[in-house]
Amino acid sequence: MIERRAVLLAGGAATTAVLTGCIVQQAPPTTASQPTSKAPVSQGTTAAEPGPAALAKVADIPAGGGVILKEQSLVLTKDASGKICAFSAICTHQGCVVTEVGDGTINCACHGSKFDATTGERVAGPAKAPLPAVAVKQRDGAIFQA
Ligand code: FES
Repeated sequence: MIERRAVLLAGGAATTAVLTGCIVQQAPPTTASQPTSKAPVSQGTTAAEPGPAALAKVADIPAGGGVILKEQSLVLTKDASGKICAFSAICTHQGCVVTEVGDGTINCACHGSKFDATTGERVAGPAKAPLPAVAVKQRDGAIFQA
């Protein structure tokens, strides 16, 4: 509940595209040159391909589903409205990597825990804690860690 309230407050007042865990407001497609990333930023391009630091292209995250990035131990979800959220992909029960996203939950096949795909809260199974949110940002059609 506190997290949802914080998101609502931040979403109403903020102009940034970054919130802990979810992107609720997309950055403009072309931004003034404000180097905020550690990675080199190509300026003045349409950036059809994400740079090496991109986690995924927005278009590659299915609405109502998500992608699991095992190498980064992250799961990216996208709801029907296009809101993208990021969480640790390490199940809080016994540490398996979650296996799928669907029907509004992030699922762990090891023992059946399920987590809400927009909040990370546990909704079923033996896990007691939510999946930790990870701050991400969107730029040029791709998702990056914030
Ligand atoms: S490790 Fe995920 S449910 Fe047990």
